[in-house]
Amino acid sequence: MERLQKYLAHAGVASRRHCEELILKGKVAVNGQVVTELGTKVDPVKDQVLVNGKPVSIAKTKVYILLYKPGGYVTTVKDPEGRKTVIDLLKGIRERVYPVGRLDYDTEGLLILTNDGELTHALTHPSRQVDKTYLAIVQGVPAEDGLEQLRRGIRLEDGMTAPAGVRLLKVEQDKAWLEITIHEGRNRQVRRMCEQIGYPVLFLKRVRLGFLTLDGLTVGKYRTLRPREVAKLRAMAGIQG
Ligand code: URA
Repeated sequence: MERLQKYLAHAGVASRRHCEELILKGKVAVNGQVVTELGTKVDPVKDQVLVNGKPVSIAKTKVYILLYKPGGYVTTVKDPEGRKTVIDLLKGIRERVYPVGRLDYDTEGLLILTNDGELTHALTHPSRQVDKTYLAIVQGVPAEDGLEQLRRGIRLEDGMTAPAGVRLLKVEQDKAWLEITIHEGRNRQVRRMCEQIGYPVLFLKRVRLGFLTLDGLTVGKYRTLRPREVAKLRAMAGIQG
């Protein structure tokens, strides 16, 4: 339950102050009854709130979240097996948001969540896929020709992969750190690419999506995108305006 003026402000109707005025002036109705008490509590999910006769929907507030996903979380809103989901990490976000694309249960890193369906659709459309960069630690140290195969494109069971950016960052005993940039988003793509050249992935983290990075975040934490970042992301996804 939430105080009516706070709910209205949150929904983007107006500033908190102005929302209080609207209530006092009798412009706000809850479940068909005009309410002029400032302290009135509403349930954002169940109650129907009208301002000047028009329904207020909290979903009008667009929310854009950049989450540093930890391993051990599923990228869905609900998991039939009862495992922890990325939504469990978003304490303090009341809007119903949905992940844009997916990271595997074991994969860490950058994940966008939003209630902007237009952006989600545009960013996940095959023609609009943006560059995504991963840090992959693999078992064994691939030779240059293996890396070159990944760069050129490699045959997976669902077809050839598009050219990818691949750099060997460092070698640590019998493991190699690779930086891999792809713009497709097939299921378990990076894991399958590395597996295909004989170097299974031990650890995988998405470190970049387009111009967005994990800078300033620690694992499990999130931040909301700044308006300029949202504008840039929407433009990158080909959305006008
Ligand atoms: N590629 C993978 O293999 N897994 C992910 O989670 C993302 C990209």
